[in-house]
Amino acid sequence: MPRLCPRCQTRYAAADVCAHDATPLVEDRTSEVFANSVRLERLIGLGGMGGAVWSGRMIATGEAVATKVVNPASEKDAMRFLRGAELAALIDSPHVTRVHQWGELQDGALFLVMERLHGRTLSSLLQQGVLSVSRTVAVARQLLFALEALDQYGSIVHRDLKPGNIFVSQARDGRWHVRLLDFGIARRASQPAAESVCGAGFGTGRITLSGDVCGTPEYMAPEQIIGSDLDGRADLYSLGVTLYRALSGSLPFRAADRIGWYRAHAFLEPPAVSAPPSRGRIPEALVAFIKRLLSKHPDDRFSSATEAAAVLTGLSPTKASIDGSYAVSR
Ligand SMILES: Nc1ncnc2c1ncn2[C@@H]1O[C@H](COP(=O)(O)OP(=O)(O)O)[C@@H](O)[C@H]1O
Ligand SMILES: [Mg+2]
Repeated sequence: MPRLCPRCQTRYAAADVCAHDATPLVEDRTSEVFANSVRLERLIGLGGMGGAVWSGRMIATGEAVATKVVNPASEKDAMRFLRGAELAALIDSPHVTRVHQWGELQDGALFLVMERLHGRTLSSLLQQGVLSVSRTVAVARQLLFALEALDQYGSIVHRDLKPGNIFVSQARDGRWHVRLLDFGIARRASQPAAESVCGAGFGTGRITLSGDVCGTPEYMAPEQIIGSDLDGRADLYSLGVTLYRALSGSLPFRAADRIGWYRAHAFLEPPAVSAPPSRGRIPEALVAFIKRLLSKHPDDRFSSATEAAAVLTGLSPTKASIDGSYAVSR
């Protein structure tokens, strides 16, 4: 299959890296038609498992879609991808990216057709600087609505909530619409951890702690690290890390490698979240809210996204107590 440079879009008949900038090439699927129903247009994103995200259109309706294409390294990776697609498709929420269709191609690649989003990931936004308190509260509230929907539509645990999997679209009036993306490693809370072990093929190293160690170490809940059975409270922890990062610009811990991250999440107390000096003070109530999300034991967090959302609503940015030293930017 011809190949394409994701950076400069140069096409090659056969090569592994781009001759201009040595970027690893991806399969050029421009204009391919999947399942007789979607035509790919342009490469718009890159991801794990040699994956690529393409813009495209539904042939019947012309609807703009995004299609993720991955080459799973193993049968297990393939099963996990398909399970993530099935779970994501169950969820009906304005804060979860809508999934239309998925399947396998003749060459063994897997695809997933979603609504096409316009905007940027939170990780790309955070490269420009920290968020204001009111923006952070808006992001938190919408992600809690997403997590509430995961609970309601089948006790689904996302397991990889982090800035790279959060998509922010800006409305004309400046408001942010936040959506959760990438159910690549999602699973049901009721599924025993032992049935969902993530092995080689994910991330950079294989951790041989017993049970399930899927996830991104920087954002992972302690119980996820040790392979315990999980419920939605693991995603609440990852939300806590994400909000900490959004407000302060840094993570609650530092570590050099995966094992270091595991130790930090499981045993170290995070310093209270604080904003860079130029941004002023974060209201105590929000500091406490994030601290509670970051509790080591799930019982010490909120009991559910619904409870956390209710508490957060009590800290509404329209109240002076929370907006404190910040100008309101919606
Ligand atoms: N529905 C979508 N609309 C527009 N861009 C998307 C969409 N889904 C993913 N992307 C882009 O592709 C990138 C990788 O997607 P993601 O699902 O997170 O893949 P991975 O599993 O490889 O991390 C995202 O960070 C985003 O920039
Ligand atoms: Mg991702």
